[in-house]
Amino acid sequence: MNVYDSSRMADILRPLGYAQVDEPNDADMMILNTCHIREKATDKVFSEIGRLKKHKEAKEAKGEKMLMAVAGCVAQAEGDFILQRAPVIDMIFGPQTYHELPEMVLKANGNERVVNTEFPTVTKFDSLPEEQNQGAAAFLSIQEGCDKFCTFCVVPYTRGAEYSRPVDKIVDEAKRLVDQGAKEITLLGQNVNAYHGTNIDGKTWGLGRLIEAVAGVNGVQQIRYTTSHPRDVDQELIDAHRDVEKLAPFLHLPVQSGSDKILKAMNRKHTAERFYEIVADLRSARPDLVFSSDFIVGFPGETDQDHEDTMQLIRDVGFASAYSFKYSARPGTPAANMTNLVREDVKAARLLELQNLVTEQYLEFNLASVGKTMSVLFERKGRKEGQLQGRTPFYQAINVPANERLLGEFVDVKVTEATANALVGEVQMVENNIKQA
Ligand code: 5AD
Ligand code: SF4
Repeated sequence: MNVYDSSRMADILRPLGYAQVDEPNDADMMILNTCHIREKATDKVFSEIGRLKKHKEAKEAKGEKMLMAVAGCVAQAEGDFILQRAPVIDMIFGPQTYHELPEMVLKANGNERVVNTEFPTVTKFDSLPEEQNQGAAAFLSIQEGCDKFCTFCVVPYTRGAEYSRPVDKIVDEAKRLVDQGAKEITLLGQNVNAYHGTNIDGKTWGLGRLIEAVAGVNGVQQIRYTTSHPRDVDQELIDAHRDVEKLAPFLHLPVQSGSDKILKAMNRKHTAERFYEIVADLRSARPDLVFSSDFIVGFPGETDQDHEDTMQLIRDVGFASAYSFKYSARPGTPAANMTNLVREDVKAARLLELQNLVTEQYLEFNLASVGKTMSVLFERKGRKEGQLQGRTPFYQAINVPANERLLGEFVDVKVTEATANALVGEVQMVENNIKQA
């Protein structure tokens, strides 16, 4: 989401004459786009400001100006604190106000410090310029905000209430992205499958129907969506996994815990049993579908047995990838007032145990891919000279020795090697692939 927001900030700044540069020293403006989801992410902001302010000071010593901004959810949540603690910062603005950047830049250039953390009534989507080329794998934001209020989570406070963009605007944007070279579209939202946008006929569409409409756009070859919530997986979405060939067979579906007691305390509004049912329904709709998830260990009140329930869920479901975190209290959330805290060393031990298990699972899944041929979208140059990097339909990162002409193309690749983190492969049927390209 932040990668997408940053690219939209670049879109809105472009008409003002700004363009991206590679070196901070060449910049006239620096924007730190921040995340507030976990404590660690927030702590980084001040250390980054400290690191980057040298560039501004060096410019100012030469009599030149450089604006420095903090954007995103840390700005939203801690705007006043940043204003006091970091005098070097000229602009502070939340994720719902960056369409107002031209006015903010004008003020900041007039030496006024700007704090903009309102939730404006006019949605930013209606006032953003058209998006610029994002390449072959593009993001498309369809939904923002969250009304779920999981007790550990800041998102409902920093990103605000749920908002779904209208269907026709999304389909038009998908067409424009394809015209600019996109072949894969990832539909984005904090709670993407809570999507309930209005169609031109006045009807409300869920994510399942929207996916079908986006799949109908000529040139869209693969669709992904993220991040979803188990509660909002409905029959229409399950049907989309069955019927829409272009929908990738990979789903990130955060479950957080396998213990009903903890799920309840987290206000996740479903049981472990229900998660198993959803997974089973999705797998019967699309047998090759693989899952990824998010887990929090050490939520207040989590016992060894609760943790074991999470481990059991992981063993039962099997994940192709996972993100796992030690619980950290976030200011203003209900869980921050809970008193039955889990000791840090216990959290660390649980995290390690969980990560060892999921790493075994990815390794197993990746090793099972060796020898298979998959359609890989080459998104960027690889780390090694002469290699391209892309993702398989199952979202596995893969490095392949390949001609640069294949950048931005779907290419059949045979997987030759695997580690827990990535695959290596070779281009199949070069002639055909180049012809297609
Ligand atoms: N502590 C730890 N992890 C958290 N997440 C969200 N809030 C917290 C928190 N307070 C994790 C969840 C979520 C992911 C984006 O970040 O697992 O799915
Ligand atoms: Fe946060 Fe996701 Fe829960 Fe919303 S559904 S409160 S974004 S964890």
